[in-house]
Amino acid sequence: MKILGIETSCDDTGIAVYDEKKKIIINELRKQKIHSKYGGVVPELAAKNHVSNIEFLIKKISLNYKFDLNKIDAIAYTAGPGLLKSLIVGSTFGTSLSYFLDIPLIAINHMEGHLLSPLITKKIDFPFLCLLISGGHTQLVVAKKFGEYKIIGDTLDDAIGEAFDKVANFLGLKYPGGEKISRLAKFGIPKSYSLPIPMIKNKKDMNFSFSGLKTATKNLITSVRITKKVKSNICRSFQETVVKMLLIKCKRAINFTKINRICVSGGVSSNSFLRKSFKSFANETNTKIFFANKEYCTDNAAMIAYAGYLHFKKKKNFQKNLEIFFDPNWSIENSHKNF
Ligand code: KG4
Ligand code: ZN
Repeated sequence: MKILGIETSCDDTGIAVYDEKKKIIINELRKQKIHSKYGGVVPELAAKNHVSNIEFLIKKISLNYKFDLNKIDAIAYTAGPGLLKSLIVGSTFGTSLSYFLDIPLIAINHMEGHLLSPLITKKIDFPFLCLLISGGHTQLVVAKKFGEYKIIGDTLDDAIGEAFDKVANFLGLKYPGGEKISRLAKFGIPKSYSLPIPMIKNKKDMNFSFSGLKTATKNLITSVRITKKVKSNICRSFQETVVKMLLIKCKRAINFTKINRICVSGGVSSNSFLRKSFKSFANETNTKIFFANKEYCTDNAAMIAYAGYLHFKKKKNFQKNLEIFFDPNWSIENSHKNF
């Protein structure tokens, strides 16, 4: 059984194939570099580029992998959450292709894709907690079983990736800046600056906030003379503060739910310092921590194809012929919607 995955929720275009026996056999991604000169994603440009990228990638898998599209059993595509115009491209393409090939079409929630991404390569039993940290989301989710998800913590303002990107911007680093911050932070001295850890006073609160930390970091940047060394130290301190807050919230979620298995996924989970800190936390607290392989952390179609495979087995989220479904604000809690 083979499932084709299509990802077009933001600016990266992904096409992948999940094979029941061999797992991920194709995972192709085209990044859109053009947005870096605007300091963030321009929705119209993202959608326009998805159109040409999808065509390019479909041709590529047919030519380079000699993959025959007639061998696909179903198509899974990202239907939300994400940028409206980007979602329209993927959903229209997926719907047309499923009609043409006369195979089922499955709408996948992008956040469910991230949540399930560690399971592509690891056996993880439900229930588990999932810390979803991406460019658009910061959520703590209880995954009771496949399809039953409850958000127990959410961000009150910026998403974590957004905070990384904005701080990077203050430091003159190009969008997307998360990875650039983590690379610079490696050269920084630990605990160089003391930044406020947001939202920790109320001991039961599992929500997140990044605007205060973002402003404090901005004020720090404007109050010092920026050299290469100072830049690295600021990146290091910002990263340390963010990770400290995430660990505090995860600890609360473990106490609250009594679940001691945590998956950490989404683009920010590829951060090496974060991964190392969570592993130490796991050792100290008898918690099991799971990450997706790095190529499945930032946006990719492999996680969509894999989620599609799980839905296909349960015959969930199958769509009616030629009904084009997408929802830019689709919550993970309703991701197993009946079509
Ligand atoms: O999951 P993702 O690819 O897209 C969304 O669904 O939003 O996440 C993208 C975000 C960006 O904000 C990017 O700066 C951040 O993930 N990111 C990182 C790292 N790699 C990507 N943040 C911190 N450290 C990294 N190594
Ligand atoms: Zn994502």
